[in-house]
Amino acid sequence: MSKVTVIGAGNVGATAANVIAQKNIVKEVVLLDIKEGLAEGKALDMWQTAPIRKFSTKITGVTNDYAATAGSEVIVITSGLPRKPGMSRDDLIETNAKIVKIVTENAIKHSPDAIIIIVSNPLDVMTYAAFKTAGTSSKKVFGMAGILDTARYRAFLATELGISPRDIQALLMGGHGDTMVPLPRYTTVGGIPVTELVSKDKLDAIVKRTKMGGGELVKLMGTSAWYAPGSAAAEMVEAIVCDEKRVLPVCAYLDGEFGLKNIFLGVPVIMGKGGIEKIIEIDMNEEEKKDMNSSAAAVKGVMDVLDNMNII
Ligand code: NAI
Ligand code: 2OP
Repeated sequence: MSKVTVIGAGNVGATAANVIAQKNIVKEVVLLDIKEGLAEGKALDMWQTAPIRKFSTKITGVTNDYAATAGSEVIVITSGLPRKPGMSRDDLIETNAKIVKIVTENAIKHSPDAIIIIVSNPLDVMTYAAFKTAGTSSKKVFGMAGILDTARYRAFLATELGISPRDIQALLMGGHGDTMVPLPRYTTVGGIPVTELVSKDKLDAIVKRTKMGGGELVKLMGTSAWYAPGSAAAEMVEAIVCDEKRVLPVCAYLDGEFGLKNIFLGVPVIMGKGGIEKIIEIDMNEEEKKDMNSSAAAVKGVMDVLDNMNII
């Protein structure tokens, strides 16, 4: 069984570690933070849920001790500042890029074959930063956003229809920001196209709310969300360590797919032991292509901002 490291024991990192541990799918989860005692404390608290939640996953908390992460199959990077009200994800670039760089360097030194999942924001650009730093295959460095954004979209639809969110299948592509591209044409409810069940006005309102879904929570809580983000990262870990061949929306490096090159953007992929095993190039109509290209342009702009900072 595998070992997984989660870097950053804050809201998202601790939630991800907790969900991974409870799934009972890996031998050990190592939780690492720079704040003295934080990861140790949270790991101990989680371990004390094991007799109640009935799992055996060992959970180790460490302060900046990368030797303890050695030999990890997957590394989840959540370290970095979260958004506060009034901030956009892009306001976090400089601080978080420096953090992502240092933690990626340290983590890859001890686990050179690891698959790296980025969660830190601004997501698409931090994934690019980790990819440049790690110097490994783009199949092994990718970001978590699409599962979260799609989950928000599915949850809103489930509330609207008064049905179980489990029966809603959906796909959302593009960057993790206000330009994300939900795809009602690729959304079904128990196999029925969503457009047969929800009026255009209501669907448009749900799409709009999904695009602002992160901001809605920042406004309510004064910081960004963690239960759904942590659970989404854990779902990716499970797909990898259990070699599930899941079809998931993931922030992946594009090398010509969808007519886009040298960019990290949310697209559907097949995920298994090898990380991204295939990018699925779905058909898009003219409007969807236009939205995807605008989203790509927005992400590219922030990638250029990062490049001009000469941090990585
Ligand atoms: P948080 O503030 O609760 O936790 C961040 C943790 O990172 C802190 O415990 C901090 O001590 C740690 N940290 C900072 N520098 C470090 C370093 N050099 N080494 C190790 N640990 C370090 O923040 P939260 O809510 O957990 O969010 C984390 C990141 O995830 C933020 O950038 C946030 O914007 C992003 N996020 C991304 C989502 C996505 O969909 N991709 C969803 C939700 C949050
Ligand atoms: C979210 O979407 C802020 O990216 C974070 O909740």
